[in-house]
Amino acid sequence: MKKVLITGGMGFIGKFLTRKILRDTDYQIIIVDSLVASVEKDEIISHDRVTFIQSDLDHWQPPVGELYDQIYHLASPVGPVRVLKFAGRMSGIIVSHLEKMANIAIATKAKLMFMSTSELYGFHALEPTKEDVDKIVSPKITVRLEYAMAKLMGEILLHNLAISNDLSYLCIRPFNIVGPEQNHKGGFVIPRFLQLASKNEAITVYGDGKMKRTFTHIDDFIEGIFLLMESEYKNDIYNVGTPDNVISILDLAQKIKAAMNSQSKINLVDPKTLYGDAFEEAYDKIPNVDKLVAAVGWKPKWLMEDIIKQTVELEKDYLFDS
Ligand SMILES: NC(=O)c1ccc[n+]([C@@H]2O[C@H](COP(=O)([O-])OP(=O)(O)OC[C@H]3O[C@@H](n4cnc5c(N)ncnc54)[C@H](O)[C@@H]3O)[C@@H](O)[C@H]2O)c1
Repeated sequence: MKKVLITGGMGFIGKFLTRKILRDTDYQIIIVDSLVASVEKDEIISHDRVTFIQSDLDHWQPPVGELYDQIYHLASPVGPVRVLKFAGRMSGIIVSHLEKMANIAIATKAKLMFMSTSELYGFHALEPTKEDVDKIVSPKITVRLEYAMAKLMGEILLHNLAISNDLSYLCIRPFNIVGPEQNHKGGFVIPRFLQLASKNEAITVYGDGKMKRTFTHIDDFIEGIFLLMESEYKNDIYNVGTPDNVISILDLAQKIKAAMNSQSKINLVDPKTLYGDAFEEAYDKIPNVDKLVAAVGWKPKWLMEDIIKQTVELEKDYLFDS
């Protein structure tokens, strides 16, 4: 029976990934999570194939002699609002935790998956972007740039470590993963709009609202990363995102408002008036996923209209709090 380590396994992506592995395999799962951005999920921790360890990765070490077949390293500060609290510390946290996981992967011969970011494509990537384009570093130093550059440093670390060590790794660049149980405190846009619309409070859209995003349903995302982990592919980088689900943020606000029959007004605001100068809003981000499709035949099933429909039908599950 394979043994899988998931850091951040109680978080949004971690919960869905754990459920998928429990459903589709007989693997044993070890979750390490500090619960800094999540709460324990009873149905997961009480499963006989799950061991849950509540610990910050700073302090956790695997028991001597414990071997893993796969490591999904998900734990990280994330979310446009949550990352603000980690200014100046985030790069150290992201890189040092990844280095620790990479050394565990090397020692135990596990395949390691690292969650990187689509923010490496810069904030104006209107064309569907392939993995091998130049990274774009914004001239303005912000907290969001610290997040993006630390994730890039992580990709570089893995690439170079694998040259001199027997390391198998995958880097994933996710494009706006959405779905039930996404914590609205991170500042992610769909839970935020839903929360405001459900209370008939003004929906605040940043800037002119014309920035476009593509949204990827958590079920499709999990399918993609699971297939990659199970495949022979290694030491490479993959976009995971649904290119067809492109929508402007203003359009998204209007659609959520209409679907909820909400009385909310939609206000265009400068986010810096809400969160200060350290806040940075991203612009267009659209992936090219030919590489993922060619590797594992990935076919996302969730279209934008169905995501919005589910958002509204499962409102309470989206407004999960921690
Ligand atoms: N959700 C997205 O759209 C998205 C986009 C790009 C990248 N990612 C990446 O995917 C990963 C998971 O994201 P998510 O949306 O599930 O986030 P999340 O905040 O829901 O989950 C992260 C989990 O990690 C835990 N954690 C954080 N720091 C920890 C630490 N030091 N020690 C132990 N546990 C810790 C948190 O308690 C939480 O349960 C992150 O690496 C993130 O950078 C997510």
